[in-house]
Amino acid sequence: MKKYSPIPEIGIQNRTWPDTQITQSPTWCAVDLRDGNQALPDPLTLEQKKIYFDILVKIGFKEIEIGFPSASKDDYDFCRHLIDNKVIPDDVMISVLVPARPDLVVKTMDALRDVPKATVHFYVATSDLHREHVLGKSHQEVFEMCTATVQSIKEEASKLKESTFYLEFSPEEFTDTDLDFAVEVCDHVIEQWQPAADEKVILNLPATVERRPPTHYADMIELFQRKLKSEQAIISLHAHNDMGCAVASTQLAIQAGAHRVEGTLFGQGERSGNVDLITLVLNLQYLGIDTGLDFSDLMNITEQISELTNMPPHERHPYVGSLVFSAFSGSHQDAIHKSTLRKDELMETFGRWKIPYLHIDPADVGREFENLIRINSQSGKGGIAHIIEKEHNIKLPRFVQVDFAKRVQAYAEEVSREVSTQEVWKVFEEAYIAP
Ligand code: KIV
Ligand code: ZN
Repeated sequence: MKKYSPIPEIGIQNRTWPDTQITQSPTWCAVDLRDGNQALPDPLTLEQKKIYFDILVKIGFKEIEIGFPSASKDDYDFCRHLIDNKVIPDDVMISVLVPARPDLVVKTMDALRDVPKATVHFYVATSDLHREHVLGKSHQEVFEMCTATVQSIKEEASKLKESTFYLEFSPEEFTDTDLDFAVEVCDHVIEQWQPAADEKVILNLPATVERRPPTHYADMIELFQRKLKSEQAIISLHAHNDMGCAVASTQLAIQAGAHRVEGTLFGQGERSGNVDLITLVLNLQYLGIDTGLDFSDLMNITEQISELTNMPPHERHPYVGSLVFSAFSGSHQDAIHKSTLRKDELMETFGRWKIPYLHIDPADVGREFENLIRINSQSGKGGIAHIIEKEHNIKLPRFVQVDFAKRVQAYAEEVSREVSTQEVWKVFEEAYIAP
């Protein structure tokens, strides 16, 4: 037997998602303070969680999973802090996680005392691997755990008459679960909850471990919806990133009809993390979709979150990395330089923002053209001329650009590293102003 043999296809007939486009934004739930925090080497303190929560609210998240109060005193205290100090804006719904265990539901609901409204999110592993070999439960026992948990949430909720509670359910390891079983369990949960006529239950279908390629996730999401009996479900995605494909998986699964996405900023989360909401959201914005989230102050957000998590993003992290709007090579610098000067004309020609070697306008995420050009021994005349023009308002004639580029390249080779704009100026001064 091979260690890694091919993974069987989902067996969907007439799939529709490859022919669909994303035209509408899903709703978003930030799980940074739960899935993200549980995977931080140094978990956030109460003070840090408050700051993080405010950042998420400011970005525009309307659903925020704030913790696992039955498992962690810190999460319990944070939940109490938010409620007791009335810091949850009226248009924001918090959620808390609890396993399918009635004894833990009691503590969870106690954490939610006096909340105006909240989502109670419970989960149980449904894959054979996890169900049989970790939990030691039969299929029937999983149904019973769900029944008991939903009844317990309802019972505790009935004691908190001033609050409104909504239900979210996750069949953990969904992508490794027999689809018919996952559907049956989810339908069972909705039946037990008995939602009001206009109410929906969130069915969160996680790739707890990314064990399948993105196309499989999309197939599972499409087939799940066809098989589900209940019409009172919000189909939610929760992709982890073990194969580095969480963003792609989520985008395809939205095409396959999912309505809601859970993820984290910078993809914080267990192992390789959860889906990175910054990349995903900006990818959708790039498709012209109004996501309702605001990343125009992304550099500030990056700085604040990096400080809180003590984990700055990689230099090449899409949209946020320090290098992603830079160009080192001369031909790239030249093309960017020329096109930036004609950006309005190019916009008109192509009907959308388009500049060579740049994916989006850096200004959309609070970044500037000024920082675009980075100079090293591979840089060409265009980029170097751009720096002199931007920094010192001196437009170099072409013959000077050629000569000056040679001088800067020679300097960069001598120092064997990137050259700062100040050094570029020094070379300029030495060559032409005070030789
Ligand atoms: O990844 C996962 O399956 C989870 C669930 C608890 C939703 O985080
Ligand atoms: Zn998760």
